[in-house]
Amino acid sequence: MDDDVNGAIRNPPPRLVVGISGASGAVYGARVLDALNDLGVESHLVVTKAALLTLSQETDLSPDELTAKASVVHKLADVGATIASGSFRTLGMIVAPCSIKTMSEIATGVTSTLLTRAADVTLKERRPLVLMVRETPFHLGHLRTMTALAEMGAIIAPPLPALYARPNSIMEMVDQSVGRTLDLFGLDWGAVRRWEGLKS
Ligand SMILES: Cc1cc2nc3c(=O)[nH]c(=O)nc-3n(C[C@H](O)[C@H](O)[C@H](O)COP(=O)(O)O)c2cc1C
Repeated sequence: MDDDVNGAIRNPPPRLVVGISGASGAVYGARVLDALNDLGVESHLVVTKAALLTLSQETDLSPDELTAKASVVHKLADVGATIASGSFRTLGMIVAPCSIKTMSEIATGVTSTLLTRAADVTLKERRPLVLMVRETPFHLGHLRTMTALAEMGAIIAPPLPALYARPNSIMEMVDQSVGRTLDLFGLDWGAVRRWEGLKS
């Protein structure tokens, strides 16, 4: 790391923005943060109110235990945060999991929170934006919104189980999905079971 004349950090450490929204699967966001810690990547976390609901319903993690996993925690309403500006350099952003509401807001550009503003910035800077969209079944509007986002450059990566990896537990299934999405940023987390061809 170097400082320039204004005291800003040049050549910053690798950073990833992590959004957690209120779709089922808060554990995916938690494991993304664990993986980034393992990889030495600075995480910038922003969590929606609905994500705190799913966290409490689906996991034993408290909000404080979740945020303690992040390097920097941003307030949802803080549209003046570093990650609201494209001049703040990052590897990109992952929304894990991504609700239909958050996905739709990103697609319209009407960004009412820091999470969706940071996603919009990621798109405008042409950095990877990975959305782990979780809903089922999808109606045509959902599918059209995903198409629009893909056309804008986002990567739609629903957390679907990779059964070829023969997971022994839900956590192994989660970690496989998390690891494969981190692959999209060029980050190789050891938890991924990689396909080595058919066994005879
Ligand atoms: C337990 C629980 C599970 C939910 N699962 C989903 C889901 O899988 N996908 C989804 O789009 N919304 C889901 N929702 C609804 C969202 O939380 C809701 O639409 C919320 O307004 C999303 O807000 P956010 O995008 O700001 O987090 C769920 C809500 C709860 C309480």
